[in-house]
Formats: sequence, C-alpha cells, structure tokens
Amino acid sequence: MTPEVIHTTTFVDDAVRIILASARDAIAERGIFRIALSGGNTPAPVYKQWAATAGDLPWDRVQVTFGDERCVPPDHEQSNYLMARRTLLDSVPIPPGNIFRIKGELPPAHAAAECEAQLAQVASRFGEPRYRHDLLLLGMGPDGHTASLFPGTEALKEQTRNVVENFVPKVNMWRVTFTYPLINAARHVCFMLQGADKKPIVDQILAGEGNYPSAGVKPTDGKLTWLLG
Ligand code: 6PG
Repeated sequence: MTPEVIHTTTFVDDAVRIILASARDAIAERGIFRIALSGGNTPAPVYKQWAATAGDLPWDRVQVTFGDERCVPPDHEQSNYLMARRTLLDSVPIPPGNIFRIKGELPPAHAAAECEAQLAQVASRFGEPRYRHDLLLLGMGPDGHTASLFPGTEALKEQTRNVVENFVPKVNMWRVTFTYPLINAARHVCFMLQGADKKPIVDQILAGEGNYPSAGVKPTDGKLTWLLG
C-alpha cells in the first residue's frame, strides 16, 4: 500500500486528530482502542494536547502499549513510560490495567517476555495470531532507526517474536522493542516526525532507497502514514 504522506505546519493538531479519529473508529467497531505510544521527544506535545482535548473519550476502552522502552526503571529520566506519564497518563482517567508498561527495571529478556505474554493474552481473546494495534505511533532517529530497531542490531532480524530485548551499541544500552512482525500487524502505523534533519532519510525511504530500519515498516494489512512537521 502506498504510504500517506502529510506535510503539515500544524503537526500537533494533526497528530491528535489522527489519534482521536482512530480511537473513535476502533471503539465504534470493536469496543476498544489499542494504541502503541512512541518514545523520544517528538510525541510529548502531542500527548499533552491529546490529554487536554480528549473530550468524552472513554478511557476505560483505551489500551496503551509502548513501541519500545529503555532498560531503566520507570522513574528514570530516560524512561519512555515516564515521559508518557508526565504528558498523558497521569492526566487522564485510564485504568492502570489498561497500560501495558514494558518493565525496564527487569532483566531485558524478562521484560520482553512479560510484554510478549501480556500481548498474546489479549490477542487470543480477539482470535488474532498476534496482537493487532489499531494505531501504532513511531518516531524516527537521525540514523533511520524506529522504536529500538537500530541499524545493525539483532532485533532487525526477528521474524517470529513480537517483543524482544535488543542491545544497542550506539547508545551502549539494552532496550526492549516491538519487532517488525508486531509493528506490521497494526491496522494503522503513523510515523510522527519533526525537523528538517530527518527529511533526507524520509525522502530516501519514500523513494524506496536506503537501508534504514524505518523502511522495514510495511503494514501487512494496514495503513501507513508519515506525518511530517
Ligand atoms: C526511543 C524512541 C525512538 C524515537 C526516535 C526519535 O525510545 O528513543 O522510541 O525510536 O522515536 O529516536 O526520537 P525524537 O522524537 O526524540 O527525535
């Protein structure tokens, strides 16, 4: 499927619009909205505005997962979960049980296995071969990585598991990350990128060039959006 490319000067508004539209449709069709949050810095203002403008969104029907996590405790400044708490989760009435935190404080393999099991339990309830996100948010780093699928790392090769531990020499730390099979099972994947520095890589990926990890995001039966601010 040809990706949808949106160049915008109203990045945060457009991102929140995409999230709320996906939530409305998912809840209307299946009674639940399953969203994967991306980490890093770019999503923070989006999550803040989502929390502030969610209106009558039934948060008890929202299930939140994390595309990746740094292997640090949940109160560590590098924790993607902490960023999501500060910008979104602590400001909305989402039941704690609806938040599938990747436990960065555990040994990486244990954290990955626990997240995998949690997703598998839900997938089996829906009769899915693997958990299917309604909306999976992603960012992209200046090296073309996404989630914690960094160039040259082992997780890029995973074709069976949904969540794996991944040592990233570039940042000299363990991460836990969604894999291509899980990402590409989503109904809708949305890259949210801001900044001109990443444009050359995006252009190469959209032209089918380059060998960047983000280029491996190709939803099997879903929509792919590049929201470029
Ligand atoms: C992470 C993210 C990562 C992020 C990109 C972009 O844990 O760091 O999941 O994939 O999305 O590195 O980060 P920025 O939005 O900060 O540029």
